[in-house]
Amino acid sequence: MPNSPNPSVDKFDASRADEYAQQSRIALAGYDACHDLLACMLAAHLGSGQPARILVVGAGGTAQEILACAALEPLWQFCAVDPSAAMLELAVSQLQARDLLERTDVHLGTLDDLAEGEAYDAATLVGVLHHLPGEAAKQKILAQLAQRLKPGAPLILAGNQQPYASHPLLLAAWGQRWRQQGASAEQVQAKLGKILQGADPPASEAAIAQLLADAGFGAPTRFFSSLFWGAWLAERNVD
Ligand SMILES: C[S@@+](CC[C@H](N)C(=O)[O-])C[C@H]1O[C@@H](n2cnc3c(N)ncnc32)[C@H](O)[C@@H]1O
Repeated sequence: MPNSPNPSVDKFDASRADEYAQQSRIALAGYDACHDLLACMLAAHLGSGQPARILVVGAGGTAQEILACAALEPLWQFCAVDPSAAMLELAVSQLQARDLLERTDVHLGTLDDLAEGEAYDAATLVGVLHHLPGEAAKQKILAQLAQRLKPGAPLILAGNQQPYASHPLLLAAWGQRWRQQGASAEQVQAKLGKILQGADPPASEAAIAQLLADAGFGAPTRFFSSLFWGAWLAERNVD
C-alpha cells in the first residue's frame, strides 16, 4: 500500500485508532446494535448454518462487523480490508483475542490492490462512504464492491447521510450525545470538529439509493438509523 496522502485514511491515524473503540460508541448511539443487526440481516439473506465468504471493507478499529458475524455464523470466513495501518492493527488484535484470525484474511490496503479471487457471498462497507470525498470516490468503491460480489449477493452499507450543516437539530443533538457521556462544552466542540473534518456524507437516502443503483445494486432496505447514521442492505443485480 503506497504511503500517498489520502484524507479518508490519514484521519484514521494512531491517535484516532487509540480512542476509536470508545469514541465510536459515543459518536454512534447504537454502534453495537447496528453491527449485531447487520450480522442478522446477512444471516437472514444468506441462510444460517451455511459456509460463506464475507468481504469487510473498512474493517479497521474494532473489527466489530467480523466479531458480530463470526459469533452468529461459525462457518463464515472473512477478508478484512483497510488502508490505515493503525486501525487495521487494532482490528487484528481484536480478532486475535477471539481466535478469529484463522477465519480472516487481512489486507492492508484498499480494493484497488486486493488480489482478484473467487467472488464473495456478501460484503460490508460500514462507516466508510461518508469519509470518501466527492461523488466519484463513492461511486468507485461501490462499483468495486459490485465487481467482487456474486450476482444477487448482499452488500451492507452503513454510514452518515445528509450534509451535517443542513440539519442543525440533529447536529445539536449529536453534541448533546457527547455531553451526555460526560464531555465539557469545549470537549464537545473538539469532538464535533474532529467528526466534521473532511466528512462528505451523501445528500440523502435517495442519493444513497442512486449511488447503489449506478454501481449495480438493487433498492436498499434500511434496517437501522441513529441521528445522521443509516444502515441498509442492497443486493447486487443479477446480470
Ligand atoms: C469510521 S472507521 C469504520 C471502521 C469499522 N467499519 C466500524 O464499523 O467501526 C472507517 C475506516 O475506513 C477506512 N477507510 C478509509 N478509506 C478507505 C478506503 N478507500 N477503503 C477501505 N477502507 C477505508 C479507515 O482507514 C477506517 O479504518
